[in-house]
Amino acid sequence: MADTKVYRASTTAPVNIAVVKYWGKRDPKLNLPTNSSLSVTLSQADLRTLTTASCSAAYPAPEGDSLLLNGEPSDVSGARTQACFRELRARRAALEAADPSLPKLSTMPLRLVSENNFPTAAGLASSAAGFAAFVRAIANLYELPASPSELSLIARQGSGSACRSLFGGYVAWRMGSAPDGSDSRADQVAPASHWPEMRALILVASAAKKGVSSTSGMQQTVATSGLFRERITTVVPENMDKMEKAIAARDFAAFAEVTMRDSNSFHATCADTYPPIFYMNDVSRAAIRAVEAVNAAAGRTVAAYTFDAGPNAVIYYLEQDTAAVVGTFYHLLGGLDGWKADSLKGAQSAVALDEAV
Ligand code: ADP
Ligand code: DP6
Ligand code: CO
Repeated sequence: MADTKVYRASTTAPVNIAVVKYWGKRDPKLNLPTNSSLSVTLSQADLRTLTTASCSAAYPAPEGDSLLLNGEPSDVSGARTQACFRELRARRAALEAADPSLPKLSTMPLRLVSENNFPTAAGLASSAAGFAAFVRAIANLYELPASPSELSLIARQGSGSACRSLFGGYVAWRMGSAPDGSDSRADQVAPASHWPEMRALILVASAAKKGVSSTSGMQQTVATSGLFRERITTVVPENMDKMEKAIAARDFAAFAEVTMRDSNSFHATCADTYPPIFYMNDVSRAAIRAVEAVNAAAGRTVAAYTFDAGPNAVIYYLEQDTAAVVGTFYHLLGGLDGWKADSLKGAQSAVALDEAV
């Protein structure tokens, strides 16, 4: 009798916000970066993608694989999504070849249903949580004995930043040097418990979809920016080194300086792209000034800003400085144009780190 069963598995994946940013591909096909990067994984209790993968021989074959993203059909024909399907199917097919009693899931159409509980394509790492969840949901469905490191290798091909969302805590994506990309994957630099006081304040200036996607923006930067060369040869290697030392020593002032400098450097290369790309706006810049004011008022560094490819701010601080940071920040931003009351309501305070592996 034909197998008409529907096989199903679900997973969630966290957002990660880089403190040393990935920006640039040396191989767009394999999605290999021009530089290593380092991020902090945020708690899934606040921001997460929830993805369910299912497959069945009863799904009409001509429909092929599909993805419903936030309730809307989403294109899966792109080379990077296809690469994830291909890699995962090949691993499942190898299991099925070794054990003929296993159901032939690798031959069935896949349906994915995914939801982000935060703005999509707005510079809050939706592609990171999204592709990490995408890959892990299918790996769970296929019962693959894959480690987070191996899954990070696959997720990287969906979206670079996604390779870091397979780990909790403090995570590095090593750029690697192998032409086939087999050493370009993420690893955990330190678990969240190493420095558990770290918090992130997320300020949503705009939940709108960005005008220039990360994929397209970084390719324009690689092609046209002179400053970018300096960033990948000198600035980032130094920042990676300083950041790993700051995390090892739990030195917040050093962590904060590298975080802010690296964000500034990344946005400078965007401004040096021709024609220039502007992800930050006046509201973003007001948040930078507010962080400076918070630090000046405290007489030491208690807060660090960083901006991904979008206008929204992520402010890192330590739990013991919550009053100085969150209190002062809300007070300052409440009086600034642009951060309207409703955007402050959308702000999420005290997002802790995620331990999940
Ligand atoms: P962001 O700054 O949010 O990461 P990007 O430009 O890097 O923005 O990527 C946004 C794209 O990532 C979306 O247009 C979509 O194609 C993909 N994406 C976002 N969330 C998911 C998800 N949950 N599952 C699959 N793909 C997703
Ligand atoms: C600014 O990982 O979204 O957030 O690999 O093309 O999908 P693709 O790009 P993506 O780029 C992230 C850029 C960044 C910095 C970072 O997360 O390291
Ligand atoms: Co992204």
